[in-house]
Amino acid sequence: MAQTSSLAKIIDPPIDPVQMFKHLLETVDQGKPEGSFKEMNLATIDDEFGVLNRTVVYRGLSSDNYVFYITHRYTRNCKNLQANPKASITFYLPLVKDDADGKDTTWQVRLIGATAVELPESEMDALWDKEDLPAKIRGHVFPCGEPVDYDQLKLKHDTFLREHLTSGKPIERPASYTGWKFQPQRWDFLKVGQGLIADRFQYRLQSNGKWESMHVST
Ligand SMILES: Cc1cc2nc3c(=O)[nH]c(=O)nc-3n(C[C@H](O)[C@H](O)[C@H](O)COP(=O)(O)O)c2cc1C
Repeated sequence: MAQTSSLAKIIDPPIDPVQMFKHLLETVDQGKPEGSFKEMNLATIDDEFGVLNRTVVYRGLSSDNYVFYITHRYTRNCKNLQANPKASITFYLPLVKDDADGKDTTWQVRLIGATAVELPESEMDALWDKEDLPAKIRGHVFPCGEPVDYDQLKLKHDTFLREHLTSGKPIERPASYTGWKFQPQRWDFLKVGQGLIADRFQYRLQSNGKWESMHVST
């Protein structure tokens, strides 16, 4: 059991939350293989369950600087956002080297009170081109959330793959392929480490469109 105690401190946070987020991700990415995924947890309002969350891949920032992810229109997460665009997102970022002392810290980033906005069709081709082969095949042959028979699904997959490889043609973007970006009311950054009580730094969107920012107790 730790015999000392101290307070974590988020040092020199920038005035813009997206700058804060970008800096944190750059620190996390140091030493990781290029192209490694970063996941986030997305919670949506669901008719049946009240709230429903799941892990999705963070795809980056949209041209207007909002966190976005990719999905298919047949998924529940997409249907949830179509019915009610309110959402909440968390990132869990363990083992981030602290700027000040080089020690490992753990961060949580939350996008609070976010409104989801579907990405424009005009941006989807470029995103589809960057998908790897399994993602492209999944987009065509897999249902989502339905009971499935593994052998039937494998046969469907293998047939699709074989036809694709023999035809040599690119796999078309299915109509279901889409993405959503999230416009948060608040960004909440929490930093903690061993023997430390967490610090939180929060950005709150004001009615004039500017961010108010402050440390908040954990
Ligand atoms: C590491 C990881 C990454 C995932 N990325 C995505 C994603 O980017 N988009 C997506 O729709 N589902 C993704 N999933 C699947 C979702 O977690 C979820 O199972 C699926 O979307 C169905 O959820 P729903 O019923 O809430 O729609 C990912 C799962 C894991 C484990």
